[in-house]
Amino acid sequence: MAKTVQIVPGAWGIGWSFQSLIALLVAALVIACVYLTADSRWLLKEQVPANNSSSSCNLFSGKWVFDNKSYPLYKEQRCPYMWDEYACEKYGRKDTTYQNWRWQPHHCDLPRFNATSLLEKLRGKRLVFVGDSLNRNQWISLVCLIESSIPPAFKSMHIDNGSLLTFKATEYNTSINFYWAPMLVESNCDDPVNHHVQFRIARVQAIEKHARHWTDADFLIFDSYIWWLAPHMKVLWGSFESSDGIYKEVGMLRSYEMALKTWSDWLDIHINRSRTQLFFVSMSPIHLRGEEWGMETGQNCYKETMPIFQEGYWGSASYPRMMQIVESAVDELKTRGLKVQILNITQLSEYRKEAHPSIYRRQWTPLTKDQLSNPRSYADCGHWCLPGVPDVWNELLFAYIFGFS
Ligand SMILES: *[C@@H]1O[C@H](CO)[C@@H](O)[C@H](O)[C@H]1NC(C)=O
Ligand SMILES: *[C@@H]1O[C@H](CO)[C@@H](O)[C@H](O)[C@H]1NC(C)=O
Ligand SMILES: *[C@@H]1O[C@H](CO)[C@@H](O)[C@H](O)[C@H]1NC(C)=O
Ligand SMILES: *[C@@H]1O[C@H](CO)[C@@H](O)[C@H](O)[C@H]1NC(C)=O
Ligand SMILES: *[C@@H]1O[C@H](CO)[C@@H](O)[C@H](O)[C@H]1NC(C)=O
Ligand SMILES: *[C@@H]1O[C@H](CO)[C@@H](O)[C@H](O)[C@H]1NC(C)=O
Ligand SMILES: *[C@@H]1O[C@H](CO)[C@@H](O)[C@H](O)[C@H]1NC(C)=O
Ligand SMILES: *[C@@H]1O[C@H](CO)[C@@H](O)[C@H](O)[C@H]1NC(C)=O
Repeated sequence: MAKTVQIVPGAWGIGWSFQSLIALLVAALVIACVYLTADSRWLLKEQVPANNSSSSCNLFSGKWVFDNKSYPLYKEQRCPYMWDEYACEKYGRKDTTYQNWRWQPHHCDLPRFNATSLLEKLRGKRLVFVGDSLNRNQWISLVCLIESSIPPAFKSMHIDNGSLLTFKATEYNTSINFYWAPMLVESNCDDPVNHHVQFRIARVQAIEKHARHWTDADFLIFDSYIWWLAPHMKVLWGSFESSDGIYKEVGMLRSYEMALKTWSDWLDIHINRSRTQLFFVSMSPIHLRGEEWGMETGQNCYKETMPIFQEGYWGSASYPRMMQIVESAVDELKTRGLKVQILNITQLSEYRKEAHPSIYRRQWTPLTKDQLSNPRSYADCGHWCLPGVPDVWNELLFAYIFGFS
């Protein structure tokens, strides 16, 4: 069953509330010399990994290497589509080494991200991210990764009514969308702005209302995780509009499983197998409990400046059981001839406790005196600063789009 996590959804995404004791000790981080110089093994010329098969290289198993020569891949201030939730420098963050880490898989190199070749690949096509604000974090990252390769007159951003966000590269006749569906199926959190609900209700059998917005996509990247971690979760049989619906409390894992079943059935029926490439992004970890990485109880990601270097580190906010449900759904889809690739970013992101916005982001509601006196209490330890970790998720996506499997 779900452990209780203190998560309160906020405007435009998720705000993170954390009951924190006053930190008496700001532990001095003794950091080994990790500032490695740029790694000469970096294969700049390689477009795809030298070895194509996952049996020979797991891209998700590796380590972070400091590399301020090649990273960041873009500048926060130069990306006109940056969002204030992720613009950590703009909101006062002074330590910026969170932008300088490269992901180095153990047994091969990641291909270098090439915006032009991605745009060529997407010519005449549509790529859609579907999910919650972590997926939107990744979408903004991808937009920032490619936009500088497109002259101003040939790109645009359009926000329909909030649910569907569209970046267009007109020269390429390409659109890169984000669609807000935090639980994939219909839920009472579907309003893109006012989804601040404590009692979650998921209509686990209904997805069509959302799915019709991405039926024709060529690339679909899903995620759905954080919104299921609610203390109270009900499923609804019937519709939100009619009064004769049946509401039932169902355990989180079971309701997640039902929702993914609806999602798989929809894919089975609607996806053109020779056209659409499917991805599911695994859980994005949260860094709210400093004690898990050796800090005092009450500390969180606030003031962290270095990644975790303990190989295999895994925090308590990532639920392997949920991941297994995704894997079973994906395995089952395989038997129906549908291939969904899992972007297994959980472990690699677990190491990056320092890469969250914490307090360096736009605050949507005025902060109280109590909050101001204790910045940890309002630190966002769930989303990610940009440039940063989601750029690496996109480098992995890039590798997969170019045939790594
Ligand atoms: C590619 O993978 C094979 C095993 O599938 C391995 O024997 C070979 O050494 C790998 N080549 C490189 C360049 O990593
Ligand atoms: C990159 O990091 C090294 C080692 O910390 C430092 O000496 C150098 O000034 C940095 N370069 C840039 C461009 O930040
Ligand atoms: C990126 O890809 C384009 C077209 O595929 C190619 O012409 C260019 O050299 C590549 N750039 C780099 C830095 O590899
Ligand atoms: C643009 O792409 C869409 C599919 O996304 C296609 O239907 C349309 O014909 C394309 N238009 C041009 C001018 O290539
Ligand atoms: C947003 O617009 C789409 C059509 O573009 C519509 O189907 C959907 O109901 C709208 N959502 C809201 C919340 O108004
Ligand atoms: C599926 O996609 C392929 C490749 O784009 C296309 O040739 C084919 O007509 C599509 N099939 C259907 C049923 O739409
Ligand atoms: C994802 O990565 C974790 C940690 O490396 C691993 O335990 C899990 O089996 C992986 N899942 C998949 C589907 O690759
Ligand atoms: C990798 O796989 C893709 C398609 O799956 C293929 O086009 C490409 O040539 C392969 N590259 C190498 C280096 O084997």
